[in-house]
Amino acid sequence: MRKIIINGGNPLRGEVAVSGAKNSVVALIPAIILADDVVTLDGVPAISDVDSLIDIMTLMGASIEREGDSLRIDPRGVKDIPMPYGKINSLRASYYFYGGLLGRFGQAVVGLPGGCDLGPRPIDLHLKAFEAMGATVSYEGEAMRLSTEGKALTGAHIYMDTVSVGATINTMIAASKAKGRTVIENAAREPEIIDIATLLNNMGAHIRGAGTDIITIEGVERLHGTRHQVIPDRIEAGTYIAMAAAIGEGVRITNVLYEHLESFISKLEEMGVHMTIEEDSIFVEKQGNLKAVSLKTSPYPGFATDLQQPITPLLLKTHGRGKIRDTIYEKRVNHVAELARMGAHISVLGGQIVYEGPNELTGAPVKATDLRAGAALVTAGLIAKGQTVISNIEFILRGYSDIIEKLTNLGADIKIIED
Ligand code: UD1
Repeated sequence: MRKIIINGGNPLRGEVAVSGAKNSVVALIPAIILADDVVTLDGVPAISDVDSLIDIMTLMGASIEREGDSLRIDPRGVKDIPMPYGKINSLRASYYFYGGLLGRFGQAVVGLPGGCDLGPRPIDLHLKAFEAMGATVSYEGEAMRLSTEGKALTGAHIYMDTVSVGATINTMIAASKAKGRTVIENAAREPEIIDIATLLNNMGAHIRGAGTDIITIEGVERLHGTRHQVIPDRIEAGTYIAMAAAIGEGVRITNVLYEHLESFISKLEEMGVHMTIEEDSIFVEKQGNLKAVSLKTSPYPGFATDLQQPITPLLLKTHGRGKIRDTIYEKRVNHVAELARMGAHISVLGGQIVYEGPNELTGAPVKATDLRAGAALVTAGLIAKGQTVISNIEFILRGYSDIIEKLTNLGADIKIIED
């Protein structure tokens, strides 16, 4: 088993570049199944979720070449073979294969998606949208079968009962080659949705309104090849900004789109964090005393649920009391017990996290229970006195590109060991 060892207390200084967005690339890769020529993605992060998707696509018959952060995908050999087991279950985003395969073949047999345990994560909205477009859903062992029974997938008017990133993207993917017009109402507005729509449009799709809550897709018969630059990862950026504010003495985070982080940045400003917003970077100064704040997560452009855990160690350094309420995933609190083990005054009370600071954290053996909880533990380890040993690090490597190298370059004492 691999573990991350951090000897805490080293101040972070220098520059760190943000990689391409995980939540974009995990949808971009399956969307490429729809193309009838080569698509090249640039700015692909070096994360294990991408490795898993490459393995799955290769198994399906795609031919893929990786060079640096570019991925050249030729999807012409993809076949609609059942994909029930193994790597499919290792990531949540494998649900995008339903949209890709259904759009291309009118059928898909794919294992149920896995991913981080953040409490219940249903996919009923995805299925409702596919059914509205004419697909039927049935189960084959551990896999789900979607099929139009030989008919064409047809455009439909779909109202999403809950704002869902995955269901919005999946519907856009499937509808790109459906017959006629699809309208998605109450669509999610995350930047990743615009990124997927941009790729699909550059492949020849007709998608309008991505980034608003009404998206219209006019289905087309063919989608061709293109080249696409993945947007920067706003969650990775927010994680490094929080680390820099917690233990930095002058850190510049580059390849950042400030517009994607406005609610996060304004929360930091409320705490008193000193930062300079530059053209495509953010400079975080060494901080003085910070003020405790409360926060509530909500769909974009609100405070991202994915940044709730990474910001928590910084909150623990602030003076006063605060509450964190995750309205998207109420049970996303697995980091709390681990942080308490490191000496933090933090607990879960009545469905929200409550904390009181400032806290002096002490290194301890802790467990990454999910990707963003893992990021919180890395930050806590950097701040803490003494040694922190993080187990279950596979979660962290699923979503943070070159995290050990990036933090080492900033002056952290961090490494991976084989235990
Ligand atoms: C995506 C992100 C994840 C992020 C989340 C919310 C990817 C691969 N993952 O996950 O990092 O935390 O958005 O920003 O992009 N829901 C339903 N039925 C559905 C689908 C969702 O009830 O069919 C509910 C969920 O339980 C949740 C809410 O809708 O409470 C939002 O979930 P959703 O936006 O779909 O999350 P994901 O796309 O899975």
